[in-house]
Amino acid sequence: MGESVGYERIVMAAEAATVAERARTWPRHRPWSMDDLDWHAALAYATYPLHPPEDTEEALRAETLASFDGTWGEVMPEASPVALGDAGEPVGAVLTVRRIVHPQAPDHPYVIGVLTDAAWQRRGIASALLGIAARAVLAEGETRLGLTVDADSVGAIRLYEGLGFVELSRGAVGS
Ligand SMILES: CC(C)(COP(=O)(O)OP(=O)(O)OC[C@H]1O[C@@H](n2cnc3c(N)ncnc32)[C@H](O)[C@@H]1OP(=O)(O)O)[C@@H](O)C(=O)NCCC(=O)NCCS
Repeated sequence: MGESVGYERIVMAAEAATVAERARTWPRHRPWSMDDLDWHAALAYATYPLHPPEDTEEALRAETLASFDGTWGEVMPEASPVALGDAGEPVGAVLTVRRIVHPQAPDHPYVIGVLTDAAWQRRGIASALLGIAARAVLAEGETRLGLTVDADSVGAIRLYEGLGFVELSRGAVGS
């Protein structure tokens, strides 16, 4: 990830069983595949709070490809559900790696992407997708889920806290 400074990120983790119990439901979803790269990159560019140098569409696409190709850890397809809209179109996604590639990596799966199309937000999609991810990691014998969130992403933090995630640490990006 980049060298940009000026914002703070929070590391959070939760018991997967708690996430599974508290999550909402969404009727249409399927596991992630490499074919999801194009729309995932476009949706990430349209919805993520962007910081330099990942604030151009090209950079965000490269970042998404890095997430997909294992640069940040092996993607767990069943724990990386894609939510589908009325016509079967992708409207949200959660991307989970088995272990994140990081010097202080926790010994459990890590969610590296959570996003819902703006037109579909506040309907329980991200909550439901995190519940599906939690059940998938439990099915593989894992008990915890971690993630990183921007400190100013108030809505995302509320979502995570509601599902049982608690803050473990925080730090300025680039520090
Ligand atoms: C954060 C994000 C993933 C939430 O997706 P979503 O599908 O709208 O979330 P849900 O509908 O499942 O929200 C469940 C609960 O979380 C909380 N929540 C979610 N978004 C919120 C917001 N913008 N403001 C306040 N609370 C919010 C609410 O408690 C909500 O329940 P409610 O709608 O009944 O009040 C979505 O806003 C998004 O894609 N944002 C841009 C990308 C991003 O910041 N991702 C997180 C990076 S770590």
